[in-house]
Amino acid sequence: MPAPPAFHDLVDRLDHAVLVVTAGAGGERSGCLVGFHTECSMDPPRYLVCISQENHTFVVAARSTHLAVHVLDRADAFLARLFGGRTGDDVDKFAACDWRDHHGVPVLDGAAGWFVGRVHERIALGDHVGHLLEPVDAEVAGAVEPLAYGQVKAMPPGHPA
Ligand SMILES: Cc1cc2nc3c(=O)[nH]c(=O)nc-3n(C[C@H](O)[C@H](O)[C@H](O)COP(=O)(O)O)c2cc1C
Repeated sequence: MPAPPAFHDLVDRLDHAVLVVTAGAGGERSGCLVGFHTECSMDPPRYLVCISQENHTFVVAARSTHLAVHVLDRADAFLARLFGGRTGDDVDKFAACDWRDHHGVPVLDGAAGWFVGRVHERIALGDHVGHLLEPVDAEVAGAVEPLAYGQVKAMPPGHPA
């Protein structure tokens, strides 16, 4: 059943942060920009990130034991354009940015903050799959003004949804 038109209008006004989620498995790496995400439990600490089944990232994330979740600074949209506006089907995003390995997943040097989560559970959520993460490692560099959805929502996604 289609959603009431005002639903999209309302949800579009929720100007939350967008994140870059990266995955790594069997020597393969992938990552995409994610707007569907939330902290969802305090005790135990859990974070949910939702990845479209159409994305290149989905295939690698399905085999990853961990995922890295990056907060970008609002002054730095380069990583958002790279990870949200291009697809790993066509380009190697990791050749275009600096990163290092943590727990088998690529952590991006250009991010203002990040955490790595162990994939605790995968949950079917319509056309996206929720990856429920248990945070195991994290770093944040001083004050961060997170890049917001409203700043990038007009960007065409690199992969058709
Ligand atoms: C503002 C914005 C929010 C997005 N949110 C999500 C999301 O929550 N989950 C997702 O899987 N893709 C999301 N995307 C789409 C992917 O980031 C995009 O299609 C990306 O190019 C996919 O790359 P990949 O094929 O290498 O995985 C979003 C894109 C934009 C521009």
